[in-house]
Amino acid sequence: NKSEHYSAQVRPPGTSRQIPQTIIIGVRKGGTRALLEMLDIHPHIVVAATEVHFFDWDENYVKGIDWYRSLMPFSYENQITIEKTPGYFTSPQVPERIHDMNSSIKLLLILRDPTERVISDYTQVYYNRLESHKPVQHFEDIVIKNGALNTKYKAIQRSLYDIHMERWLKHFNLNQIHIVDGNTLIKDPLPELQKVEKFLNLPPRILPSNFYFNQTKGFYCIRSDGRERCLHESKGRPHPVVNNTVLEQLHCYFREHNKRFYSMVNHSFHWH
Ligand code: A3P
Repeated sequence: NKSEHYSAQVRPPGTSRQIPQTIIIGVRKGGTRALLEMLDIHPHIVVAATEVHFFDWDENYVKGIDWYRSLMPFSYENQITIEKTPGYFTSPQVPERIHDMNSSIKLLLILRDPTERVISDYTQVYYNRLESHKPVQHFEDIVIKNGALNTKYKAIQRSLYDIHMERWLKHFNLNQIHIVDGNTLIKDPLPELQKVEKFLNLPPRILPSNFYFNQTKGFYCIRSDGRERCLHESKGRPHPVVNNTVLEQLHCYFREHNKRFYSMVNHSFHWH
């Protein structure tokens, strides 16, 4: 049972902590937690429980690679260690740092429709602010400034996948970066996970029986090691209904960026 190993303070015989051979680099709100939890079903995969922020936060990066390793769970030699920090994808300094650590690393990137991602990003910040009793704004009031799209809004910037991808491709070959379709992972997780198994050269071990649709949550949940679990309630929250004109402005703004992204990665995602 893998979960027992994670919580154990003592090292199980034959295991050690390993630097990740694979990193989920983002994107924030793309479905990174779902992807990590679902890959954790695989017996040859162990995952870091928390977001590590090693490569994107300077105060962590200066602590060095041994500190990074010390945060990884114990694993057997035939197992792959994976960590996910969604902020990596959009942080300018990260690609070079990861390349310095391991130039042949395999990276996973989960993306969803950029407009949906903006709304999801807004929703997360909205709830965080509510919880800490800070004032909140309507989506439209942030996204539209003086009648025009507020392209300086961070959530919009993070959805410019072509701009970010360009930086990664300066350091890595396209075949080192596997892109998971976050919209598909929501609707039908197994095929997306099977593609990841192939990309990581792992034997197929994730099965249809590992998933069941939970009507109450409205999302797939995980059945593994004799347990059933859904993601945290902060994953899969209802989004605000956004004014149609504003939606169309966002779709229009992202259209050229998306096209450029599709040609960069030789794949179309059929986003708006
Ligand atoms: P929403 O909460 O906006 O719907 P991340 O983990 O990168 O923050 O991504 C969160 C998103 O994962 C959620 O965004 C949700 O749409 C998506 N997701 C994908 N599969 C899911 C699942 N099985 N359960 C819950 N959320 C899932």
